[in-house]
Amino acid sequence: MFPEVIEAMAAQQGRVGNPSSLHTAGRAARRIVEESRERLAQAVGARPSEVVFTGGGTESDNLAVTGTYRARRDADPCRTRVVVSDVEHPAVLDCAGFLAAHEGAKGSRVGCDPSGVVSPEAVRAAIEEDPGSVALVSVMWANNEVGTVQDVAGIAATAHEHAIPFHTDAVQALGHVPVDFAAAGADLMTVTAHKVGGPVGVGALLLRRDATVVPLTHGGGQERQVRSGTLDAAAVLGFALAAEKAVGDLAAEAGRVAALRDRLVCGAMALGLGIRPGGVWQAGDHDRRLPGNAHLLVPGCAGDSLLYLLDAAGIECSTGSACHAGVPQPSHVLLAMGLSESEARGALRLTLGHTSTDGDVEAFLGALPGVVERARRAAGGSAS
Ligand SMILES: Cc1ncc(COP(=O)(O)O)c(C=O)c1O
Repeated sequence: MFPEVIEAMAAQQGRVGNPSSLHTAGRAARRIVEESRERLAQAVGARPSEVVFTGGGTESDNLAVTGTYRARRDADPCRTRVVVSDVEHPAVLDCAGFLAAHEGAKGSRVGCDPSGVVSPEAVRAAIEEDPGSVALVSVMWANNEVGTVQDVAGIAATAHEHAIPFHTDAVQALGHVPVDFAAAGADLMTVTAHKVGGPVGVGALLLRRDATVVPLTHGGGQERQVRSGTLDAAAVLGFALAAEKAVGDLAAEAGRVAALRDRLVCGAMALGLGIRPGGVWQAGDHDRRLPGNAHLLVPGCAGDSLLYLLDAAGIECSTGSACHAGVPQPSHVLLAMGLSESEARGALRLTLGHTSTDGDVEAFLGALPGVVERARRAAGGSAS
């Protein structure tokens, strides 16, 4: 988190007042919430009335996908198709899966190219299988594993050719690449605070005034009757301040962080260990790939071994697999990009941000050869 965000939140947390209460303390908390709404709206290219605060990205994705599905199906029972890309976050994919298992939805998946790019043409082809049956289209702005940035405006325009609502998960994009809700033409957009230097546990769904969603939570009718529940004024303030700062610093930070990423990727490739980058990678490019995302495919070893060995060296990263019921599964994103299961199992994800330095990259590159050698020995193989 940005230190100034922690400070501002700590001060607000010391104040009492429910933003829905009418007494003086409640009105003061409401003022904080409404000012934060304006600041967040400004940072994401939306109107204040389009900001629905939530408990984070997962909740916003669920509200967008499930809420839109239910609203569209209720208005027209033929609209049961949920068109999503193969590379979505589980908060979108599992939501679509739940609707298919329990509420009569039909999943419709759009593939990607070997770099993780989902083209507007592929989205058009999926829609045109039967345009009248589509409830919504959801394609993320930038991928959390390989950092691929999508042509969101092109995909939104494609969905709108058939008057279909378009949702984009911009959790990874906000504060890292230019994000403008209105200019992109999205109807719904998910953002979360903890990816922009703000606190965990608060996010927002940007919701056009004419977009209809059936609420998932019922109660006090807060947030346009769409998301009931008492708002956490301190968290909302922290989110707005962090988003404002991340967006304000973006022009300078994107170049600095992308240069660190490039040094990391080039350095890893130069070690002679057969390492190559995953996704769209070109030195200096921070438009088509998130500046802070470095994704490495390390042949001949398991990502989990790399993760634990790097962790012991003080370097924290993620792998290309996720644990489902205790069993590591290769990433659905990497498989969708056409990688084999064994390639996907040797994937490492390193994320650089506002606190990352040259020294961090040097430390990683210094530790990597020994770590790879030990991980390969553990896998019982040699370099491949
Ligand atoms: C692309 C994407 N969507 C959604 C989420 C979920 O957000 P949250 O952790 O705020 O629930 C994440 C979290 O990392 C993400 O990367």
